[in-house]
Amino acid sequence: MAIKHYLQFSDFTLDEYEYVIERSRVIKRKFKNYEPHHTLADRTLVMVFEKNSTRTRLSFEAGMHQMGGAAIYLNTRDSQLGRGEPVEDAAQVMSRMCDVIMIRTYGQEIIERFAKHSRVPVINGLTNEQHPCQVLADVFTYIEHHGSIQGKIVAWVGDANNMLYSWLQAAEVFGFHVNVSTPKGYDIDPAQVSPGNKNYTFFADPADACQDADLVTTDVWTSMGFEAENNARLKAFDGWIVDQAKMARAKKDALFMHCLPAHRGEEVAAEVIDGPQSVVWEEAENRLHVQKALLEYLVHGRFD
Ligand code: CP
Ligand code: NVA
Repeated sequence: MAIKHYLQFSDFTLDEYEYVIERSRVIKRKFKNYEPHHTLADRTLVMVFEKNSTRTRLSFEAGMHQMGGAAIYLNTRDSQLGRGEPVEDAAQVMSRMCDVIMIRTYGQEIIERFAKHSRVPVINGLTNEQHPCQVLADVFTYIEHHGSIQGKIVAWVGDANNMLYSWLQAAEVFGFHVNVSTPKGYDIDPAQVSPGNKNYTFFADPADACQDADLVTTDVWTSMGFEAENNARLKAFDGWIVDQAKMARAKKDALFMHCLPAHRGEEVAAEVIDGPQSVVWEEAENRLHVQKALLEYLVHGRFD
């Protein structure tokens, strides 16, 4: 049987997500009650980081430990990847010594090539084009608050980046709509959106994108790997801050999400990220719970 990887959000069906979300609930409840959940005893996760991380590393590493397994951290600087070892060779070697692999890297094609040569499941811990684990945590967080995300409106205010592309895939899987507002010159790359995706609408004015939204979300204006563009982006994104005026256009019970790290005064006002509609700390915590369910599903399949 083909190995199941998690390289982009659309890799799972709705049915698989429903299973993973239910397991996430169970795993979260047990964690809160200090009940052991050792379904990955004697299993090893290798984590390969070619970019910085706080949440992703911590949640995967703590998650494996809590499930009775082990996690090993590698980065480009210390490993042979930084000295030009082909990813195909690295995949062969790593997947003979461990049970599951997580990678944070640049182009999506790198993780695709890696997965082709891996004997074990590979998880996308962020690429330039996708951040599926974060959007899984965000969808789970929304469902925890409001029961279902189906038919809801998510407002995306900011850069057309990895987070947005994963949200657009999630909209197709879960049946919700994304109101997208990106500044001129930082538009959606059509190659990153499935040709038939009818689940989003573009708005030139970011405040209009927030109208009647159930969830307002944004992200840094300069993603990792694009640092040279920072000054140009600061100018181009002027007006794209999620502030109280934009939140006031959304529904009264709308949530605010940000994958973090955040820059108060740039993409989000302090009064919003630190305000009552913000669920950013829950989003961050839920990375732990959903990724434990994801690891378990990829390694073992379903328990029921
Ligand atoms: N949101 C997120 O992926 O955070 P890190 O970059 O800290 O892992
Ligand atoms: N879009 C951001 C997300 C960081 C978690 C980046 O790629 O840097």
